[in-house]
Amino acid sequence: MMMKTKKVYIETYGCQMNVNDTEVIFAILAKAGYERTTEMEEANLIMANTCSVRDNAEQRIWGRIEQFNIQRKKRPGTLVGIVGCMAERLKDELLETHKVDLVVGPDAYRSLPRLLEAISPDSPQIDVLLSRDETYADITPVRTDKNGVSAFISIMRGCNNVCSYCVVPYTRGVERSRDAHSIVREACDLFQRGYKEVTLLGQNVDSYRWEDVNFAALLRMVAEINPALRVRFSTSHPKDISDEVIETMAAYPNICKHIHLPVQSGSSRMLEKMRRKYDREWYLERISKIRSLIPDCGLTTDVIAGFCSETEEDHRQTLSLMDEVGFDWAFMFAYSERPGTLAARNYPDDVPPEVKTRRLNEIIEHQNVKGLESYRRDIGKTLEVLVEGTSKRDSGMLCGRASSNKMCVFPAGDLKVGDYAKVVVRDATSATLICDLVN
Ligand code: SAH
Ligand code: SF4
Ligand code: F3S
Repeated sequence: MMMKTKKVYIETYGCQMNVNDTEVIFAILAKAGYERTTEMEEANLIMANTCSVRDNAEQRIWGRIEQFNIQRKKRPGTLVGIVGCMAERLKDELLETHKVDLVVGPDAYRSLPRLLEAISPDSPQIDVLLSRDETYADITPVRTDKNGVSAFISIMRGCNNVCSYCVVPYTRGVERSRDAHSIVREACDLFQRGYKEVTLLGQNVDSYRWEDVNFAALLRMVAEINPALRVRFSTSHPKDISDEVIETMAAYPNICKHIHLPVQSGSSRMLEKMRRKYDREWYLERISKIRSLIPDCGLTTDVIAGFCSETEEDHRQTLSLMDEVGFDWAFMFAYSERPGTLAARNYPDDVPPEVKTRRLNEIIEHQNVKGLESYRRDIGKTLEVLVEGTSKRDSGMLCGRASSNKMCVFPAGDLKVGDYAKVVVRDATSATLICDLVN
């Protein structure tokens, strides 16, 4: 008997871990007879893998639920599922809208086939149990990247820090590290399939520990698979990034020279209140350590403007730290209070919205100046770039990232996607290095 294949469409929001989780979900659903589609209009199951990190991320999902329901009315029998962090945070509240048939949290994706089997119009299904040990280690993600060159590998899940502003520990549960051998196997398999770059993912990769393998040891294991396989990782935590990790990066040419090191604030008073467990001096010391061992290391960060009780002086400290470090790039946000977090329970969200916006804009202006300076400093340098695809702006040009994670555009020559190219930087904007090929 032929089983009619059903189609699933998934929109992914939030961080890179969610992108990888969506790939895990596709793998689990394939076993239940669901095939991936990129057209919502033909899907039997429409899902959003969601993010709760800021209120506007959740507002966007509420808008998408309305859009999904247009399909649900037009094509009766179409199912709508909300999975990921917002599913975990809101639980039954999502079902009570009667616009959602399925609610599944980040640790419960293995139960998707069973839940789908049990769904009927009057019995929506929910599983938001968090786990102490789920890492999906044995599941081979269905890759959704466009070019088959660069892939994500989750090396751990959850988070054991309690940064006072952050909802992630509540939506993702406790920290657990994945079997190092399964990580190496996955990276080997990707390399054999033509991938040239893997990015190891975790909320705090520096606290990775599986048996006696720490993060530096894991980096070595993955880097030793093949010199032609690049290794990246994200996110590092300033309190935990060790000299051993920095030294390991310096020792292996194929470990990319880029660290995403979220600072959040330049004021030690704010950092204390955020429970980041480091201060301004500690952060700046880590930056000098990185720069002394890896002079050309790409550095990017995350910054929050207008956290509880932030004064103009605290804010100026953030601006001065950004000027001092000169990040290549930054993700910059206005503080958004998240229900249930330590900050929401203990501190009033007392910086007025217009002040938050003004401070955020000043942070962005400082970053734009520093980012452009950093990109322009690369003019004249020769870089090795992994070809990822054609340039968005100019289809006659190729694009790809340098080891530092800066995006480069360059002429196609005889190059194809997945090749390494040697380029020399001719010009720069604050987000792109414009390069020529070196023969
Ligand atoms: N694990 C990573 C961060 C994950 S969340 C780390 O510790 O650095 C990604 C970024 O979102 C954070 O670095 C922070 O800058 C921002 N963020 C988290 N909670 C926020 C909130 N309540 N309001 C505004 N920005 C927030
Ligand atoms: Fe959130 Fe802090 Fe954990 Fe990062 S380290 S996910 S900011 S609690
Ligand atoms: Fe968002 Fe969850 Fe990632 S809250 S940032 S999708 S861990």
